[in-house]
Amino acid sequence: MANVIIVGTQWGDEGKGKIVDLLTGYADSVVRFQGGNNAGHTLVVEGKQYIFHLIPSGILYEDKQCFIGNGVVVDPAVLLQEMKKLADQGLPVNPRRLMLSSRAHMIMPYHKLLDAGSEAQLATGRKIGTTGRGIGPCYGDKILRRGIRLGDLLDRETFRERLQENLEAKNFLLTRQYGMDPLQLDPVYDEFMQHAEQLAPFIGNVALALDRQRREGKHILFEGAQGTQLDIDHGTYPFVTSSNTIAGNACTGSGFGPAHIDAVIGILKAYTTRVGEGPFPTELFDPTGEALQQKGGEFGATTGRKRRCGWLDGVIAKEAIRLNGITDLAITKLDVLSGQPELQLATDYQVGDSTLETMPENLKDYQQLQPVYEKLAGWSEEIRHARHPDDLPAKARAYIKRIEEFTETPATILSVGPGREETMLLRNPFTG
Ligand code: IMP
Repeated sequence: MANVIIVGTQWGDEGKGKIVDLLTGYADSVVRFQGGNNAGHTLVVEGKQYIFHLIPSGILYEDKQCFIGNGVVVDPAVLLQEMKKLADQGLPVNPRRLMLSSRAHMIMPYHKLLDAGSEAQLATGRKIGTTGRGIGPCYGDKILRRGIRLGDLLDRETFRERLQENLEAKNFLLTRQYGMDPLQLDPVYDEFMQHAEQLAPFIGNVALALDRQRREGKHILFEGAQGTQLDIDHGTYPFVTSSNTIAGNACTGSGFGPAHIDAVIGILKAYTTRVGEGPFPTELFDPTGEALQQKGGEFGATTGRKRRCGWLDGVIAKEAIRLNGITDLAITKLDVLSGQPELQLATDYQVGDSTLETMPENLKDYQQLQPVYEKLAGWSEEIRHARHPDDLPAKARAYIKRIEEFTETPATILSVGPGREETMLLRNPFTG
């Protein structure tokens, strides 16, 4: 039995989806613990394309159980649409294979309107560049203790009461602050009662179910969304998402005890990308950045926005390893670097006269921050055929070795292409 967490070490989009898919093959259960449908990844299995925003991709395997933990924010319409799409593709989702925590908060129609209104009103330079899915306002209500949870769908009266209270407060904001139309109680209530009928059989006590699984000796995989630098506490605040994206939240966001975690896999893209606004020390504004964007197909999975691209940032990698307690690195998209004559790895930051080995505490420091780079030799060969590190050019092996040395963490998974088979699993965290 082993319980494993997967997290992104950068700003999301590190290629977690593929590694989650690979390790799901060895797990019995897969758990989402934070974020919502701001996340997204696409998998191609046997020629069929599947797009996931909320449901763990483990649903593709007949014998796996999937869980959406209390830390996730769920837009019921999006979830039902995802279920319908899977059913249309010949994969009906049933309550035996998917459980939703009754404690997970729901993204309500007003959350999406407030997300849009708030972004529109922020001045240039202060906009977050959210995905517009209502994530921030939903988590905001959770903390304000005004949220409506999936479990509330099971009690019509409570649901209506909570909705009415919320609409009174939210309509004030929507109309006065943002100049939008108010929402009417009945249509929203009716819509959610329809969702309730379909979702009720899936709603349960996820923390209890996971404890049972653990006692039965099952392998559990906790699937993080976004990345460490988007963490609400430890990321580049306020240019972050509204949940804790780091490994600690796998426990809080699902109700699983930390002592039962055996490994934390950090997904590290071989270069860096970011969507949305905010600091990005190693960002490239030159043809190399453009080349990484093009070759890496760097477009946001959820919003289709072009991702900003830059060199690998060792400072960020080290920070992620410390914050998450990462035991193993999975280095992804190594193939995208093929053809770059020279690679650069940021080892420190220069701020004025001082050298920093960690991310600055103060957002303003990013304005005058310069990464200090170590140059490494690039390789010209395409490497997608590699199935063992020995198949890689010596310079690619040296790049990986330098990352391991610098971060003091072994790279036990190497990915050289989007396909399942284009992966080298050098140590399986479930079997040791
Ligand atoms: P929100 O999560 O929609 O509130 O957006 C806040 C910030 O997080 C924005 O910069 C988004 O682009 C970013 N973000 C949210 N989800 C993801 C993701 O899955 N990958 C990369 N960036 C994300």
